[in-house]
Amino acid sequence: MHFIRRKGWEIAEREVSPEQVFFNRRAFLNGGAALGFGTILPSLGKSGSAFAANEPDPSASFYPVKRNELYKVDGDVTPESVNSQYNNFYEFGLSKNISQAAEGLKIRPWVLKIEGMVEKPFEIGFDDLLKKVQIEERVYRHRCVEAWSMVVPWSGFPLKSLVDLARPLSSAKYVQMETFMDPKMAPEQRGFWPWPYVEGLTMAEANHDLAFMVTGAYGNPLAKSFGAPIRLHTPWKYGFKSIKSIVKIAFTDKRPQTFWETTGPREYGFWANVNPKVSHPRWSQAVEQVLGTGDRRPTQIYNGYGDYVADLYKGLEKENLFM
Ligand code: MTE
Repeated sequence: MHFIRRKGWEIAEREVSPEQVFFNRRAFLNGGAALGFGTILPSLGKSGSAFAANEPDPSASFYPVKRNELYKVDGDVTPESVNSQYNNFYEFGLSKNISQAAEGLKIRPWVLKIEGMVEKPFEIGFDDLLKKVQIEERVYRHRCVEAWSMVVPWSGFPLKSLVDLARPLSSAKYVQMETFMDPKMAPEQRGFWPWPYVEGLTMAEANHDLAFMVTGAYGNPLAKSFGAPIRLHTPWKYGFKSIKSIVKIAFTDKRPQTFWETTGPREYGFWANVNPKVSHPRWSQAVEQVLGTGDRRPTQIYNGYGDYVADLYKGLEKENLFM
């Protein structure tokens, strides 16, 4: 991957207040790639704020939430101003600069369907769900397969809480998650890719303490460009596992066929655990670019969470665990 650093991008955290809004030209140009990741086109950014002034978020009163100090990392938090100008949300465009387009995402009413191998399928409104779970802040590393990384203060609740609410049958082996499907709202869904975006985890992964359902970031409800109102974050896996704007959670005994596996089966797999020694066909994974700092640092196995998650993969060594 070919990175060109632009002046004005490398903003020290101390120079940026979380709510600061300014124009920022994106950092990287890329040589062009066939399958979405890395097809980065230069354009001008806009505010990353979650809502227009006339559209208050119904969940705003929940935030900020208390940080759980058990979940912290050694690097500085990536400034919100940097994060909000560098997103992958292909429903709204193929560049990193989709924050303005993503403002078209309509996030209320927002209903989650829980279905498949559960005692009783049900639907729950996002605001009702928030009342049933305990929200906290966790600072997580976020590592994309494109070899960039961030550190993000997410707010949310363990996926396990949602699994418990869903009451899956013992025969369920996987959790499949789906993003909304609305080509009128999300222009790229009119194209040929296999929409909606689908992701999945094993039950063991879904019940792992680190698997986090994200409902906010930087002390506020989740910005639309970050995947409002609810997304996943599995910090030991490449970012594409962390599906945004989820509307459906289905329990199944069949391994989910994910969006990227369907799109590029030779490049993307089901497991997608971070490993510096296993290169992607187009990107070495040995080193990562830490956005907003100018640093390049060695990538860590399981993105630094190996002590906590390596056991999940015992007995699965024959699987393609790192793609
Ligand atoms: N979820 C949906 N629905 N659509 C997407 O395009 N992109 C994925 C993931 N979740 C994506 C998605 C990828 S490739 C990454 S790296 C992360 O979201 C990016 O999250 P961020 O924009 O908050 O950094």
